[in-house]
Amino acid sequence: MKICVVGTGYVGLVTCACFADLGNDVIGVDADADKIKKLHQGEIPIFEPGLKELVDRNRGKRLTFTTDLKAGVQASEFIFIAVGTPPRENGEADLTAVKQVAAGIGQNLNGPKIVVDKSTVPVGMGDLVASIIEEHSAHQNKVDVVSNPEFLREGSAVHDFMNPNRVLIGTNDTGAAERVSELYAPLEAEIMVTDLRSAEMIKYASNAFLATKITFINEIANLCEKVGADVSKVAHGMGLDSRIGPAFLSAGAGYGGSCFPKDVSALIHKAEKEGYDFRLLKAVVAANQYQKRSMLARIKEVLGPLEGKQIATLGLSFKPNTDDLREAVAVEVIHLLQENGARVRAYDPAAMKLAAKALPGVKLAENAYAAVAGADCLVVFTEWNEFKEMDLARVKSAMRTPVIVDGRNIFDPQKVKALGFKYRGVGRK
Ligand code: UDX
Repeated sequence: MKICVVGTGYVGLVTCACFADLGNDVIGVDADADKIKKLHQGEIPIFEPGLKELVDRNRGKRLTFTTDLKAGVQASEFIFIAVGTPPRENGEADLTAVKQVAAGIGQNLNGPKIVVDKSTVPVGMGDLVASIIEEHSAHQNKVDVVSNPEFLREGSAVHDFMNPNRVLIGTNDTGAAERVSELYAPLEAEIMVTDLRSAEMIKYASNAFLATKITFINEIANLCEKVGADVSKVAHGMGLDSRIGPAFLSAGAGYGGSCFPKDVSALIHKAEKEGYDFRLLKAVVAANQYQKRSMLARIKEVLGPLEGKQIATLGLSFKPNTDDLREAVAVEVIHLLQENGARVRAYDPAAMKLAAKALPGVKLAENAYAAVAGADCLVVFTEWNEFKEMDLARVKSAMRTPVIVDGRNIFDPQKVKALGFKYRGVGRK
């Protein structure tokens, strides 16, 4: 099938590569000429496991890239919108890019199209996209707007696209639903067809629920510390109840990333616009903010005043297997450490290039062992496997004082204490 994907960010580029690999002819469109030039040369602008292999395998054959929206629209039956919807200062989603693309599609229509929205947009945006397209098109063409939210996680995006829990298709037109279902048929996944607005809501409700689940276990973790319980065991015991399930119950330094913070804020904002006060989600935002900042308190608790202290931080991205620093807990806490007079030496397996820009004044180490050399405290922000497998005896001998603050509970407290470390996790005695 002929597909155009507008926007070649995380979601767009993964969508391009995966649909091409499934045998479709895909044109990736992006207004950023530099990005398109790099993609032509096989350079992938983001770190995402498995993505380069897919792009390389299909590039120049079933997968092409252009800045020309008209060419993409006119050559395709399906036009996917996968542009960014970044948060405005008040938490509202900025829909400028989606609206611009909708207008561009309208101006360049040359026949019937199915416009599929993959960008996370507030409920009602699909209807607005349909009216913008109609407003900008000179001729009458049948255009169906479908909501097809993406649930992929950074770091496992290709795997998630190819192995979805469910494919969600939101449209009020059964013909369009059937055509979009055909695109996903090779994945043999469960397909749910619903109306446009319910699909848009499912995306926000899912992300907000997961953010709430993480925040709930973080609050339980904080209480565990006070009553002498261990949150890992508590989470395991809770997860055995099939009504709760074990996923997204890892307590830690709080959630970050390009989706949860933005989508939770956007849902609160949408509710407010509709005259509804979403009390629970407001509490989630506040509790997550507290959790991130509590990392500073944990470090102070074991180190005392931070003035002049040397702190090694491991992991900068908001989660493992990505270089994405958006809303990363590490970045926020490192700023707090600096404000408190500490000197920071950081290491991340993938995000060093971006970190050099985002964290001026922070020394970047070549590897984890170089980061801990001479440090008064080692702080773990991201659970990369290479940190879990570190030689802790070597770490201890390299540090000035053997102190670990483990923001992701990756180390076994008994083992590190036996090695002579002072240890502080999250939700552990
Ligand atoms: C999320 C959703 O999972 C995905 O379906 C959606 O399409 C986009 O947003 P992503 O942000 O890539 O994906 O990462 P995810 O693995 O969900 O983690 C988000 C944040 O929650 C990270 O900061 C992570 O460290 C944190 N987290 C996750 C926890 O603190 N504990 C957990 O148990 C799980």
